[in-house]
Amino acid sequence: MKVKVFAPVNLAFIKYWGKKDTKLRIPANSNLSVCLDKLGTITEVEFDKEFNEDSVEIDGKISKKRERDRVVKHLDRIRNLAKVKLKAKVVSNNNFPKSVGLSSSASGFAALSLAGSKAIGLNLSEKDLSRLARMGSGSACRSIPSGWVEWVKGDDDKTSYSKQIFDKNYWDLKILVVILSQKKKRVVTTDGHLAAKGSLFYKTRMKFIDKDLLEVKKFIEKKDFRGLGETMERECLNMHAIMLTGKPNLIYWLPETVRVMQAIQDWRKEGLKSYFSINTGQNVFVICKPEDEDKLVNRLEKVEGVIEVRKDRIGKGARII
Ligand code: PMV
Repeated sequence: MKVKVFAPVNLAFIKYWGKKDTKLRIPANSNLSVCLDKLGTITEVEFDKEFNEDSVEIDGKISKKRERDRVVKHLDRIRNLAKVKLKAKVVSNNNFPKSVGLSSSASGFAALSLAGSKAIGLNLSEKDLSRLARMGSGSACRSIPSGWVEWVKGDDDKTSYSKQIFDKNYWDLKILVVILSQKKKRVVTTDGHLAAKGSLFYKTRMKFIDKDLLEVKKFIEKKDFRGLGETMERECLNMHAIMLTGKPNLIYWLPETVRVMQAIQDWRKEGLKSYFSINTGQNVFVICKPEDEDKLVNRLEKVEGVIEVRKDRIGKGARII
């Protein structure tokens, strides 16, 4: 059977950086994100006895070894679950540039998990699908449920999964995706996680992170935009402090990244309320209220180095299309 799905990118307010179990991709801390509505990956998977080997095409190109091996390993997990040996054809397309800090592995592995499991005849629950996606790329488990999603860290494969905490329509926030450059990141995220524990500040971050998560949940409950935004921005900078001081250290920002971060903070002093977040790359996510969206897009487009600003909002998780 051939199955085509869409899975969204997700943006974390409390980040996942560092693992308790590398092989099972169990995070060091529970974390929380929202699914985006538009930014994401469309993946088609087909299993057929006529195929002699797995084929993997991403964004119109046959995948190179490292990328292909990671996808084939995930197909093996799906085959093991279904107790089926058939080879697969995977065709995947991102509607945004990949490997530049826009979380293409989250949407990519969420899409592969849903499309692959359905195509092989499995009907996994949302929880089990999120566990499967987690094995492909940790944050992919947060792109399975819709809306506001918490990844409960758990202790093992069974207890580490994602669940919805609020529906996508709960709070109408806007998310701007600021694309600065398509230069590929220098260190892939999987390797970056390993560097985290080498930072002097890692243990301190871990001491406070559960409290920050509880606080973020309270801000969401109260729809306190300022509280949520300030915590998100500080949390992003806390994570980057770990990256900057890890072993090896990781500098994901470009000069234009810093320019956008400072512009957001300057505009805030003028009363234009928005907050930034950055993952493993140079590009920036910005959250704002609907009434400020157009004004911010206008201003962001004028910042030196900004190539494109995409308007997005909170959306659904992975689904068949
Ligand atoms: O799922 P991974 O291994 O791509 O890690 C995601 C890491 C961050 O994007 C930096 C943080 C997060 O929680 O999304």
